[in-house]
Amino acid sequence: MADAGKAERAVGERPAGERPAGERAPGAPRVRLVPLDPDDPAHVEAVFDMHSRLEIVRWLDDPPWHPMETRDEARALIERRREREARLHFDRLRGILDADTGEVVGTAHIVLLGRRDGTSDDDHHIGWALRPAAQGRGYVTAAARLLAAEVFAEGLDMLYIDMWADNEPSAAVARRLGAADRGVVDDPWYHGTSRVFELRPADLQG
Ligand SMILES: CC(C)(COP(=O)(O)OP(=O)(O)OC[C@H]1O[C@@H](n2cnc3c(N)ncnc32)[C@H](O)[C@@H]1OP(=O)(O)O)[C@@H](O)C(=O)NCCC(=O)NCCS
Repeated sequence: MADAGKAERAVGERPAGERPAGERAPGAPRVRLVPLDPDDPAHVEAVFDMHSRLEIVRWLDDPPWHPMETRDEARALIERRREREARLHFDRLRGILDADTGEVVGTAHIVLLGRRDGTSDDDHHIGWALRPAAQGRGYVTAAARLLAAEVFAEGLDMLYIDMWADNEPSAAVARRLGAADRGVVDDPWYHGTSRVFELRPADLQG
């Protein structure tokens, strides 16, 4: 049994060199996750900075895309997500802060998804976005590790990562996290085809 070693290991024991789930990789930027606050101008600005750009929103949803035009729309998005978070146990939208400067560099989120064919209404997706100036430094990989470890510690056993088939930067994040690539499939939640990864607690130990 290939996994016997893992299964027989006592909780808390790990071989030298193996990181606890969610711990930062050597050289990765130090990040903090904070609940987004619609009354914090820096939080609103970060959401607006991303969602007002077609080159970002085109990866986040089905077309037609509507980049935000006002900061009120950013505030309303944060409020809608807080309302979901109050109702849905694992749902959450977090600001990714550079732990050294306090700057909000992007967001990471978990949402409950219902399958189009009705076979499950209990799938959870993890997603992310970075302000353009913050890309290319490992912020999202570090933040996604923390956020996934948080919900795994609360009892969730799997997260889907659903993306457009040609979203190479996002697929690279999923691979760095150690997620299993299920390939390009008929999207269970949205229309069309998508690339789907599955991330489990053991993947974060790699
Ligand atoms: C997806 C997205 C967040 C990825 O951003 P990113 O900066 O590539 O991701 P990370 O923060 O993990 O950084 C990884 C990059 O930093 C580099 N890097 C530098 N130091 C690093 C470190 N210590 N650890 C990890 N990566 C590091 C990596 O090499 C990689 O750059 P490369 O792709 O040029 O090799 C960004 O492209 C984005 O906001 N896209 C639009 C929104 C989107 O597509 N969301 C997902 C929808 S499913």
